[in-house]
Amino acid sequence: MDNFTVLGIETSCDETAAAVVRGAPPGPGEILSNIVFSQNEAHAPYGGVVPEIASRAHLEILDGVIERALAQANITLADVDAVAATAGPGLIGGVMVGLTTAKALALAANKPLIAVNHLAGHALTARLTDGVAFPFLLLLVSGGHCQLLAAQGPNSFQLYGSTMDDAAGEAFDKTAKLLGLPYPGGPAVEEAAAHGNAKRYPLPRPLLGRAASEGNGLAFSFSGLKTAVRQLVETGGVNVNDAAASFQAAVIDILRDRTNNALSLFQRDFPQTDAPTLVVAGGVAANIAIGSALTLLAESRNFRIRIPPPKLCTDNAAMIAWAGLERFAFGASDPIGFGPRARWPLEP
Ligand code: KG4
Ligand code: ZN
Repeated sequence: MDNFTVLGIETSCDETAAAVVRGAPPGPGEILSNIVFSQNEAHAPYGGVVPEIASRAHLEILDGVIERALAQANITLADVDAVAATAGPGLIGGVMVGLTTAKALALAANKPLIAVNHLAGHALTARLTDGVAFPFLLLLVSGGHCQLLAAQGPNSFQLYGSTMDDAAGEAFDKTAKLLGLPYPGGPAVEEAAAHGNAKRYPLPRPLLGRAASEGNGLAFSFSGLKTAVRQLVETGGVNVNDAAASFQAAVIDILRDRTNNALSLFQRDFPQTDAPTLVVAGGVAANIAIGSALTLLAESRNFRIRIPPPKLCTDNAAMIAWAGLERFAFGASDPIGFGPRARWPLEP
């Protein structure tokens, strides 16, 4: 298959990002540039992303970020085959900024527009980095999502289970806030946990031990864990590192238990797959302790595991460019009137 060059734009949360990726399915592809401008400092005083601040910041800096991405890739807009942008799900103001900018560039340069699902971006990253073949089992763990899916194609996902309440990253962020750790919470909790005793505080592990065949056997729930952390903090005198370690251990147990069930389902559904692979994606996949636990699990079940490097787990535009490239390679493009979507599930 021919090689394609795609410009990607990501503005669905608090990272303003643009990237140029070259390649063809199934990957791996080549990342010619990957510019991520994190708005962390702007949101840190509020302990979370403020949507209005995010969309304004995207609007102010996106042009420059795109220019840098093209310059670093040593190309101009005329050299790309398509312009891809996140069209959802995410904070609608930010999505509008990125998608509208992509439309303007596509129109001006007479290039096709590809409207990319942000979750597909996370899901397909392991093809960009490692050329993982379909089908594969996907654990998608980010700030807004916590799901297990069978990925069968760039546009084809079968949902095995998802969270009934909070997402995994959300649980990290809320726990960080409760423990007085800085925003963003995930990396701060991981750092504190590395210095703590995970056995110090017994915390609940909702739904743990349910069989895959039972109701909610592949569902996640984190709100009870979050409440338990709050109650722990309210008792006073809590050791932050020990609490962070105890929390992270509970999350690991939950992710391992659910994923273990999903491995069985995947084997049942795709018995012919010769090198079954577990892919972990999304911001929480940047967590080394979680990655190690899931690696042990996958190996014990004779699955390969692929976890993108941390910079490609958290939000970036290389994954958006690649997801756009995967669809473009099969002749897909989207109408210029494609609307931004606050919600946009991966499964049909
Ligand atoms: O994928 P992502 O960058 O944005 C969304 O699409 O949501 O994920 C962000 C989430 C945040 O909740 C953040 O706290 C979490 O990923 N995260 C982590 C780590 N790095 C980022 N969670 C745990 N450990 C980490 N090292
Ligand atoms: Zn994301």
